[in-house]
Amino acid sequence: MILRLDDPAAARAWCARERDAGRTIGFVPTMGALHAGHLSLVERALAENDRACVSVFVNPLQFDEAQDFDHYPRDFGADVDLLDGVGCSMVFTGTLAGFFPDELDDAGALRPEFSVDPGPAALGLEGACRDGHFEGVATIVDRLFDVVGPTRAYFGQKDYQQSLVVGDLAARRGAPEVVVCPIAREPHGLARSSRNERLSPDDRERAAVISRALGAADEAWRAGDRDADALARRMRDVLAGEPRFALEYAELRDPAAWTADAPTGPLARAVALVAGRFGDVRLIDNRVLGDAS
Ligand code: PAF
Repeated sequence: MILRLDDPAAARAWCARERDAGRTIGFVPTMGALHAGHLSLVERALAENDRACVSVFVNPLQFDEAQDFDHYPRDFGADVDLLDGVGCSMVFTGTLAGFFPDELDDAGALRPEFSVDPGPAALGLEGACRDGHFEGVATIVDRLFDVVGPTRAYFGQKDYQQSLVVGDLAARRGAPEVVVCPIAREPHGLARSSRNERLSPDDRERAAVISRALGAADEAWRAGDRDADALARRMRDVLAGEPRFALEYAELRDPAAWTADAPTGPLARAVALVAGRFGDVRLIDNRVLGDAS
């Protein structure tokens, strides 16, 4: 039976006891609305550690749009049941005040001096489209790492740039080991996301265009095309065929040499990244070109 805690201080005490007993902790930070993608991270955390622990917290610090924060799906009871079903050891949640008891101002906002620098991987793409997003992610993940003290922390590759930001953060802290897990997809290719629930059935089908666009870039890469502009054009051509999709970006980056702006000319390694909207639902996806996925 899963242990459910509603307070970060109680979670901190539980994790400390587990660590003191010599047990390893695999940690999966989430914002809830759990789906098969999250559960695969928890299963991996359980397979590789003595205990698996999950946080469920819709972090206000990382939302640049109030509407996105307000509409973010929340059902803690359902999340707890799903986690119990896969054998998760402990799940915890909390409030902003519970996570940052001494760092909020009188209005309940985090004082700016406690915001954590997300580092250079936050530049461009998501960092450019979503003002303050990665500061919010780095700040809460840093605090979650303080609370849990995990041996390993598990993140999905779907949030590719986030995985670079938290990898840098963990490297600066000296722990934990960050494990980036493959993207879980719906049968027609759409990357699993809590936001998919807000798509109409028609848009959910149409949204498969994003993985087709990434597939087109991957096909061109495998055929020998290394030119960043040409690969990006391949994606945009496919995406332009879907009139309901409002493109924000379809670009390439060298994953080992992240740049704010899209590189030009030939690439030695490449990740293709796409973001855009169906109606008011924002979706992101990516593919490391030439990878097995
Ligand atoms: O990927 C997410 O769900 C969130 O960005 C995270 C890592 C839980 C931080 O709030």
